[in-house]
Amino acid sequence: MNCTAGNNMELPSRPTLFDFHGVSMTKYFTDNWDSVQNFKARPDDILIATYPKAGTTWVSYILDLLHFSQMSPERQESVPLHDRVPFLEIHMPGITSGVDELNKLTTFPRIIKTHLPVQFIPKSFWEENSKIIYVARNAKDSAVSYFHFDRMNMVQPEPGDWSSFLQRFMEGKMVFGSWYEHVRGWWEKKQSSSNILYLFYEDLIEDTERELDRLCSFLGLSATIELKRQVMEKVLFDNMKHNKMVNGSVDEVFDSKISPFMRKGKVGDWKNHFTVQQNEQFDEDYKRKMKNTDLQFRTVL
Ligand code: PPS
Repeated sequence: MNCTAGNNMELPSRPTLFDFHGVSMTKYFTDNWDSVQNFKARPDDILIATYPKAGTTWVSYILDLLHFSQMSPERQESVPLHDRVPFLEIHMPGITSGVDELNKLTTFPRIIKTHLPVQFIPKSFWEENSKIIYVARNAKDSAVSYFHFDRMNMVQPEPGDWSSFLQRFMEGKMVFGSWYEHVRGWWEKKQSSSNILYLFYEDLIEDTERELDRLCSFLGLSATIELKRQVMEKVLFDNMKHNKMVNGSVDEVFDSKISPFMRKGKVGDWKNHFTVQQNEQFDEDYKRKMKNTDLQFRTVL
C-alpha cells in the first residue's frame, strides 16, 4: 500500500468493513470517492486491476521496468514502487491520496494500480480507451495470501483465525468484496472490451517470459532481448523479496515480523492451509458461485 508517512506517523487504526454499493469496503478506499470517480484518465494510461493478492506488485514492477528501467535507472534504486505505480483509490490519514499522487506524476505513461471491481472504475478509463491489464489468481491461493496480508497489514480489518477468514472470503466479506464477483465481473467486461488484457498469476508462474511477450504485444512495446532478460531477472521472486523498493519493507503499516509482503509466491500453498473438510466445502460452494461462467483457474501446476 502507498503509505510513506514520516517516521513519527501515528498509524491509522484497523478499519471495519461496511457495505458500499453492494461491495464490502473500508473507509480507506471510499473516503475519496468523488475524486476517484472524477479521475481524468488519459489514453496512454495503463491501469493494472486486480482482486487483492493476485500479483499486482509483480506486474506493476514488470511494467515499470519495461517502460522506465533504461531511461531512468536511478529511480529503481530510490523511488519505492508504490510511488512509481500509485494506488488510485487509496486515501488514508498522513499520506498523499492515490488521486493526488497520480495528478503529480510527471512520468509517461502513468502506470496505475487499482483493486476496484469493474463497476467502480472511473468512467474516463472507458471514455479514453486506456489500456487495462487485469490479473487474476485462483481463489484458494488468493484467500491464503489475503489472510496473511490482513495479519500483517495494520490498515486492514482484523483477519481473525483462518477458518473464520475463509468463511468470510466465501461470503465476499473482504475488502474489495467478493473474489467471485470481481474475477467474473472483469472477465465479462473483457469479452466486449479490446482494451483489457486478462492475465493469470498461474500463467505468470508457469512461463513468465511468455506472459511478458503477451504484455509487450498488448502494449505495443518492442522490448529488446537484453531488456527482456533484465526484466525477467529482476522480477524473480527471490530478487524482488530482497529489493526494498518493491518488497513492502518501506511500508510503515506492514509488520513483516508477522508475515512478509513477499511471502511465498507459489501456486498451491493453499494445500498447507485448507483442511480436507474446508476444501470440500469450498469446492462445493465454488461450483455454485462459478457455474455460469467459462472462466477457469488452475489451483495446481
Ligand atoms: S496486493 O497487496 O494486493 O497488491 O498484493 P499483490 O501484489 O497483488 O500480491 C501479492 C502476492 O504476489 C506474490 N508475488 C509474487 N509471486 C511470484 N513471483 C513474484 N515475482 C511475485 N511478486 C509478488 C506475493 O508473494 C504474494 O503472494 P503470497 O502467496 O502471499 O506469497
